[in-house]
Amino acid sequence: MEMELRAPGKLILGGEHAVVYGQPALAMPFAALAATIRIERLPPGAGLTVAAEDLGKRWRLEAAEPLGALARATLARLGAAEPDAILRLSSTIPIASGMGSGAAVGTVLVRALAALCGQELAPSEVSSLVYESERAFHGTPSGIDNTVIAFARPILFQRRDDGAASIEPLTCSTSWTFVVGDTGVASPTREVVGDLARRRSQAPSAYEAPIAAIGALVEQMAQALHHDDGPAFGALLDANHGLLAELGVSSPELDALVAAARAAGAWGAKLSGAGWGGVMLALVAPQLAATVAQSLHAAGAVRTWITKLEPSL
Ligand code: PMV
Repeated sequence: MEMELRAPGKLILGGEHAVVYGQPALAMPFAALAATIRIERLPPGAGLTVAAEDLGKRWRLEAAEPLGALARATLARLGAAEPDAILRLSSTIPIASGMGSGAAVGTVLVRALAALCGQELAPSEVSSLVYESERAFHGTPSGIDNTVIAFARPILFQRRDDGAASIEPLTCSTSWTFVVGDTGVASPTREVVGDLARRRSQAPSAYEAPIAAIGALVEQMAQALHHDDGPAFGALLDANHGLLAELGVSSPELDALVAAARAAGAWGAKLSGAGWGGVMLALVAPQLAATVAQSLHAAGAVRTWITKLEPSL
């Protein structure tokens, strides 16, 4: 059996960081980029190998790497013995850029193992396996990345106090165009989230207001989306970026790209993901997308993408 599976990247439209502290956040899949696994069956006794083609690395099932642990947890969940196969893994999602590369790789690995064992896991089961793996290796993830990628649809996400997540599919009635600009600066989520957590633990009251304000903006974003109000959503993106800068997670490169998008006529723009580097996104009228992308390149973006949030069924 040869088979190929893919999981998309993701973009956070609003609420990153605040979501770690219980506020709601909005996210959508980013289908232009994906993690892919090609499954090749091997003769009995060969065991399981994961070959990360882009990195030139291979792991066996017993490996200490995060993917080894996730593969073992998935097989335990499936009640299956070690399969005899090689999983050829590759990804077009830049690492540490705010686009969910780790969660996409985890999601496609879980799905590939289920397929190998002739089983199918519900998106919620895939998501919780990836979440446990991210928790073990990345500290305190909110769970938004694994959720939006495993469900592969736009969502309003909130982690409640009891640890359970509330997941609402997002609806819009027309297509929305986003331009994404990559600073080219790699920025591991764990470091940015850890730094904010340290600063917040030293002065909790200073962070309470901006974190709550981001949560309130996200509720308004969901309304603006529902009412198809691009200009209102754009203004909320701008406000969200301002609050993220206040939380200390923006960077000169991100601020320059956000300013360039606005100057080129975007309805609004903000960093997306953990910050300090990685990507920003801008909401634009469709006819302005190419102009905004050009301005982002001129302002230092190493890559840009134009992507759409399509009406929900
Ligand atoms: O940069 P990313 O794709 O890992 O997104 C991080 C989102 C945060 O809210 C900053 C962290 C989290 O776990 O939600």
